[in-house]
Amino acid sequence: MIPARTIQKLIRAASQARKNAYAPYSKFHVGAAALGGSGKIYGGCNVENASYGLTICAERSAIFGAVSAGEKKIRAVAIVYHPEHLASPCGACRQVIREFGKSTTVILANTRGKFRIEPVEQLLPGSFGPEDL
Ligand code: THU
Repeated sequence: MIPARTIQKLIRAASQARKNAYAPYSKFHVGAAALGGSGKIYGGCNVENASYGLTICAERSAIFGAVSAGEKKIRAVAIVYHPEHLASPCGACRQVIREFGKSTTVILANTRGKFRIEPVEQLLPGSFGPEDL
């Protein structure tokens, strides 16, 4: 269980990171925040590229930043992109979140702070993961 205060912190960190989104092509700004096993929070934003397929999503930016900083576990990920709609991670990001555990908490939020919580296994049922290798 992620404490309510930490959930709020994650949503705020995701909203903050969203301000750094580099999205000159889609103009769609996404922010995410990953909670590492240490308790530290890592923000990430989408980073697009003139070679469109090289774009990286905010969720993966946040998770890869956390792992690059030495985190071995990812306990939760918050995502934000719209004032009203709750964010929904793309399939590739769902798979990357799932790598760190089926029960990793995903916080689908909007920029006004409304949110819904789902374990990643609900977003990616019947998934493939490290246990399958
Ligand atoms: N995007 C994300 O950052 N996360 C998602 O889960 C969905 C899509 C980004 C990629 C691209 O820069 C823009 O949103 C439009 O697809």
